[in-house]
Amino acid sequence: MTTFADDLATLRPETAPAQGTHVELRSDTFTLPTPTMLEAAARAPLGDDVYGEDPTVDRLEQLAAELLGKQAGCLMPSGTMANLTALLAHCPRGGKAIVGHESDVYVYEAGGASLCGGIVYDPLPNLPDGTIDPAAIAEACAVDRSDPQIAPPAVLSLETPQNRCGGLPLQLDYLSEVSRLIRSHGVALHLDGARLFNAAVALGVSAAEVAKHADTVQICLSKGLCAPIGSVLVGDRVTIAAARRMRKMLGGGMRQAGMIAACGIVALTDMTERLADDHARAARLARGLSRIPGVRLDPGPPLTNMVFFKVRDDRYTTRTLIEAARRRGIRVEELGTDRIRAVTHAGVDDDAVDRAVSVFGDLLGHDALVR
Ligand SMILES: Cc1ncc(COP(=O)(O)O)c(C=O)c1O
Repeated sequence: MTTFADDLATLRPETAPAQGTHVELRSDTFTLPTPTMLEAAARAPLGDDVYGEDPTVDRLEQLAAELLGKQAGCLMPSGTMANLTALLAHCPRGGKAIVGHESDVYVYEAGGASLCGGIVYDPLPNLPDGTIDPAAIAEACAVDRSDPQIAPPAVLSLETPQNRCGGLPLQLDYLSEVSRLIRSHGVALHLDGARLFNAAVALGVSAAEVAKHADTVQICLSKGLCAPIGSVLVGDRVTIAAARRMRKMLGGGMRQAGMIAACGIVALTDMTERLADDHARAARLARGLSRIPGVRLDPGPPLTNMVFFKVRDDRYTTRTLIEAARRRGIRVEELGTDRIRAVTHAGVDDDAVDRAVSVFGDLLGHDALVR
């Protein structure tokens, strides 16, 4: 029997692990660490981060804070934990967190703020462009705080790009308006920026320009930026210290986490600019798909790396079409009822995009037109 060490010996260290022969469009979370990341992880100076003694973690936290224009950062094992610790740091038990009804925080994070923090979610409708109507936010904030019947709102969480609303980035003037509005009510702004650099690239501004409107921001290293693990929560020193305590409480205090942080440093230094390529490929994919009769982009052409579309064809349900595409080597997923999401990332080149278009064209019985 061969050992794991034997298997490793057959790998060439200069090559990244293979992505497989299929085209993976389900999510940018499928990205694999680059060879530079693996090298950085192997060489990183390490220490015990719960003692605050891992120099590579310190370096990543400082870098993330600097890039986002904040005082401090804290490495988290996941975006979910970064969002949760932020809500716990901003909101006392019995307080309200205002969230979008289509937000990751509300839909996909297992109700953590309620479960762990005794926090009441106040879900407000996300509009098709990913925003929440400022009038609705104002109404949710304008409560009589002296009334003992009321759970007072303490934090608003926004998401940019807003995944379930088509991966659309929130506009800067919207962020500015909302942050001014809630500040006057003593409500903090948390930004779920799982793909904040995609938003910044789409808007043509720096990440700090997007982040400056928020009190805390979480960024994921493990999505389009290709790191295998991790998120960073940034904000002012006091809030980040509170979040760090919450991280430990949740079991997120990691020891020689510099191995993770090293990949994160490479993610933040080498991998943000190339996101424009992913956006261009999403646009190419959308163009190709939209030429296939029966396919409709929903909400419309992508602005970041996510293409959402619906298909009307009597031969398929959304599920059976996804399964048929999978059998032909194209992996996409249903996100929202009868809506398909395809996400471009570093593991998807132009050929892969064109292959996806021609498979859907084939399945739907038309010649795919790829440009
Ligand atoms: C917008 C958004 N926020 C947060 C998360 C949670 O991140 P993680 O999977 O690292 O917990 C995700 C995950 O896909 C996401 O898309």
